[in-house]
Amino acid sequence: MGADDIETLVSEEISLANSARGRWHAEYLGRSYRSAVEMATAQVGRGSRTVLKTDLWNECLGGARGIAGHFHERDGLRFFGLYLLHPVCVEGRARVPAMHVVQADIRALPFRAGSFDAVLDLSTLDHLPEAGVAEAIGEYRRVLRVGGALLLIFWQRSLMVRLRLLLKRLSGRREKTGQQYFKRACVMATLGRGLLVVKEFVVGSLLIAPQGLTSRLLGRLPARALMGLLGLVVRVERSTAARPLLEHVAGLYGIVALRQADPCGDHSRDSHAT
Ligand SMILES: C[S@@+](CC[C@H](N)C(=O)[O-])C[C@H]1O[C@@H](n2cnc3c(N)ncnc32)[C@H](O)[C@@H]1O
Repeated sequence: MGADDIETLVSEEISLANSARGRWHAEYLGRSYRSAVEMATAQVGRGSRTVLKTDLWNECLGGARGIAGHFHERDGLRFFGLYLLHPVCVEGRARVPAMHVVQADIRALPFRAGSFDAVLDLSTLDHLPEAGVAEAIGEYRRVLRVGGALLLIFWQRSLMVRLRLLLKRLSGRREKTGQQYFKRACVMATLGRGLLVVKEFVVGSLLIAPQGLTSRLLGRLPARALMGLLGLVVRVERSTAARPLLEHVAGLYGIVALRQADPCGDHSRDSHAT
């Protein structure tokens, strides 16, 4: 993704944040992401933990989705954040001063093998072309310690997403810059060796409905009612009973996977330093 694409994305996000849709959308994703982060970090126990968040887009823009801003003050969490471009790193660092910020690409992480207890990818991977997915997941695996947790949330090719993309194409509307949609099975297959999936869940079922409709219905709700409703939706999305249906509907899919020991020793690349 080039600097022009980033500029387009920034202006899209700023206009979104100023719209009625922006408010509920940010609250919804923020709540969803925070509950997923709690779920993933719980897998690696309490005590001192070193966590990598793979892009600082939301930290740069601020607001409800800024995960590092939300968690960095938690006792025992040491937060690292990375982004491709310098201006976003600078803004992210200014907003979350306690975070260690690194300018890097997820396909070549500048950290030693086994540096992290948890890696949080909240819709970063799904901005890579499919060819880059195995590379990035290989890097996540490399920088996680054995027993460490990977949280991956990505836009998926669910039935409803494919329908939405088709309708968008037919009506001549442009897709969001740089956004990719992956088949769940392909991502699972790539996790394959060395990362054991321990939790799966859906995210973003409400993002599939036409934006005009959700903005009219949710954008005008009083804050309390909106929070109550979004809390309920996220709880339903986490339930295993609802997953068989919701996985065909939801926009995003979430996975928590634990780094397994390599029985033949770890021969992964270790050319970087923290
Ligand atoms: C739009 S944001 C996703 C928003 C955010 N993660 C969230 O939680 O909503 C995805 C970001 O990934 C960044 N990105 C794309 N390719 C990347 C790469 N190879 N390494 C690191 N970041 C990348 C893009 O610059 C983009 O800002």
